[in-house]
Order: sequence, then C-alpha cells, then structure tokens
Amino acid sequence: MSLTVSSSILDTIGATPMVQLQKITKGSKHKFFAKMEYFNPGGSVKDRIALSIIEGAEKRGELKPGGTLVEATSGNTGIGLALVAAIKGYKCIFVLPAKMSEEKRAVLRAYGARVIITPIGLEPEDPMSHYSVAKKIADTIKAKTGNCFYTNQYHNPDNFSAHYNVTGPEIWNQMSGKIDAYIAGVGTGGTLSGVAKYLKEKNPAIKVMCMDPIGSILSDLYYHGKVVTPPASYQVEGIGEDMLPDNCKLNLYDGFLNVNDKDAFAMTRRLIAEEGLCVGPSGGLILAGAMKYAETLEKPSNIVLIMPDSGKAYLTKVFNDKWMIEKGFLSPEESKTAFNVEVMAAEEMKNYV
Ligand SMILES: Cc1ncc(COP(=O)(O)O)c(C=O)c1O
Repeated sequence: MSLTVSSSILDTIGATPMVQLQKITKGSKHKFFAKMEYFNPGGSVKDRIALSIIEGAEKRGELKPGGTLVEATSGNTGIGLALVAAIKGYKCIFVLPAKMSEEKRAVLRAYGARVIITPIGLEPEDPMSHYSVAKKIADTIKAKTGNCFYTNQYHNPDNFSAHYNVTGPEIWNQMSGKIDAYIAGVGTGGTLSGVAKYLKEKNPAIKVMCMDPIGSILSDLYYHGKVVTPPASYQVEGIGEDMLPDNCKLNLYDGFLNVNDKDAFAMTRRLIAEEGLCVGPSGGLILAGAMKYAETLEKPSNIVLIMPDSGKAYLTKVFNDKWMIEKGFLSPEESKTAFNVEVMAAEEMKNYV
C-alpha cells in the first residue's frame, strides 16, 4: 500500500472502504457489502456534501471569506460543515431537533459552532421547527452582514451532485460493476438519489431500495402519492422524513421497506458485536430492512448497503442498556448478557482464582 500526505483534512473525505458482511448474513444466498461512511474524517457520509455545498456556494459568490453557515441538521451535516468551515474560516450555526444525541451536540460545540435546539414533534412549517428557525436565523444574519449562507441540505442540488459525481463512481468501481441492488435510507435523499442516478445510468437493472423508519411519510408518498398514515416519532436518527426534500428523487427508487426502531437497534448491536462494524442506528435499520428485502430476490445477488455514520455518536443511546430498557428495546434479562455490565474487579476475580 502506498501512503500519501494530505495537504489538509479535506483531502481525506471520501474513498471509504466497502466491507463484505461475514456472519450476520451467513446462510443467505446473497452477498451483502457495506460502504463504511464513518471512515470520513467527520465520521459520516455528510462530510461529502459539506465540501460540495460550501465549494458550490463559494463558486457562485454566495459565500465570501469570514461568512456564516447556517443549517438545519440532525447533527452529521453540521459536523461535516463545521469540519470544512474550520479549514476555510467560516462561522457556523446549527439548529437541531431535541431528539439528536448529546454526543453529536458536543462534537459540534467542540468545532466552535453555535448549537440551537428546537422542540420535537412540530410540523415543518411551524415557526419553531428546526427548518423554520434555521431559515429565519440565516435570513436575519444575511440582512445584517450580507455574508451568510443557508446551506439547505434538503433542497440544495450540490448535495445530490456530491453523491452522483463521487460516491456513485466509488461504489461502481469498488464493486467492479457487479451490483444487483443498492440500498440506503433517506434523510435528505442525497445519498440514495445521487448514487442511484449514477448506478442506473451504468446499469438500469440495478434495483434501488429505500429503508424507511416506521413513522416517516416517505413510503406513503412513494406508494400512494400522499400521506396515508400521519407522521409519528421514532428514535433512529438521520433518516425518515415528515416532508419531501428536493434531493429525494422518488422516481429513481424501485421500492420502500419500513423498519421499526427495535429491529434497527438490535441490528446495530449485532453489527458491532458480530462484524466489528461500529455503525449508527440508521445503518442497523438499513441492514435489517435489506435482509427482509433480500428474501424476495430469487437469484443470488450482490447487495450494496450504505452505513452512514459511527456508533460512537450514539453511546448514550443504542449502546446504553439503561436507555434501551427505558425505551422498551431491550429486556433487563437481555441486558445482563449484553453491554454496559460493570462488575467490580474483586467480584470478577472470583471467576478466575
Ligand atoms: C445518521 C444518518 N444516516 C443517514 C442519513 C441520510 O442521508 P441523506 O441525507 O443523504 O439521505 C443521515 C442524514 O442526515 C444521517 O444523519
């Protein structure tokens, strides 16, 4: 392997590993490949769009040196933007719904960003929703300073194009084109849609599937063209929506599968314990759904999955038995054999002497 020197951390964004699953999917006639996005320097797939969105705004003259970035984010896009901003010298303000983990908030603050938390369960149009608050802050700063950019990951085409131009070709090349299905979740839809467009141009037979949390409205929009079941809250962060972002191109998808929190969290724990992959719960949800979808495929298939971020951002949630039990995702009996069992050294030593 030849190792090179990067001129800045920004050069290390992308080119993430593709890892074949070994144990969880053993016995399946299909092969599952996980695109490991936590290898990005900010720890998620969102570093890719952060760079593309900031450079797009700079090129168009919408962002000038010393300007302020504002975003409504579930955390990861904020981390990606803050990382790029640290190198390029921008200020950052991020608006997060209260559901998002403490770990992500702490990382954003460490980068020097202002973090604003909005209540959960609000309609997107509500003036206190994270979308509305972010937009209002961006408009106000822009009116005052003339140098503020609302990065708007949901609707900004530079999100889609980062995945069309870079992530898609990476996946195609890593797999030498041997792909039957490509599966991800949708937050903004950039990852699923941008890669889907690239892959389908290369081979229109590739099936593109979206794994959606129960409570998201996206699968209703796909199958019925309208919301049939009203949006409901769920615990998995970063995927599922209560509105249709422009970057979610439903026409590029071949279907949806809904997955509940419990299955998503259980699979997230299996991914680290059995495969050594410390991914966040959106990755667990995507694999849990993908395995169900795979049962419907007759011929042995190569299935590519996106693992969007790191489990380290959720240590107080999916990897915390107390939280898992409180939420009803784990029984106290299961907890004894799983995580977070702290035993005093003296007591443990009795097993060995
Ligand atoms: C943890 C996590 N997984 C998945 C996604 C979805 O990615 P995309 O916005 O490209 O649809 C996000 C987006 O915020 C996320 O934070």
